Amino acid sequence: MTGDERFHTLVTEEAIRDRVRELGEEITRDFLGRDLVLVAVLKGSCIFLADLCRHVDLPLTLEFLGLSSYGDRTQSSGVVRITQDLTHPVEGRDVLLVEDIVDTGLTLDFLMRHFEVRKPRSVGICTLLHKPSNTMKDVKLDYVGFTIENRFVVGYGLDYEQRFRNLPYIGYVED
Ligand code: IMP
Repeated sequence: MTGDERFHTLVTEEAIRDRVRELGEEITRDFLGRDLVLVAVLKGSCIFLADLCRHVDLPLTLEFLGLSSYGDRTQSSGVVRITQDLTHPVEGRDVLLVEDIVDTGLTLDFLMRHFEVRKPRSVGICTLLHKPSNTMKDVKLDYVGFTIENRFVVGYGLDYEQRFRNLPYIGYVED
């Protein structure tokens, strides 16, 4: 696909690097003196989390949450199922959900309700990408890397049929 002339770069490696650093610095300022846990939603967010957490200059812990998502298709089904849960309680802690992309918002709406019952001190959201044109559930996003048009994107953790997660930039295929 990346050899295809219809494949384009949407966000360069350099732009991602700069923005992730900014987000990390912002989170560092906002959570100073708090008990932070960064929760990555697998698999798409793992690369973002790995880079982001190294720019958060605070004592923190990492957790991973596995969700069933698109099932190799490019349209959101709205059906979300937890396939791997947290390994430690988050009660009384400040939780920051780290997402690769918010499209319809259905996944995050589900997750916010899932976290409420675990009684964290707070739950925030940090997403690398946001596609506002597809919003079905309006969830408050505390940190957004880039707001993008309604395109199906891959790279930097994002996949198409489980492929392209390892691209260091974010790209799309022209229709
Ligand atoms: P939402 O529930 O519609 O907000 O979808 C969130 C999930 O859908 C993301 O975590 C991704 O796994 C997937 N997704 C949405 N848009 C894209 C895209 O453009 N490329 C790859 N995955 C996407």
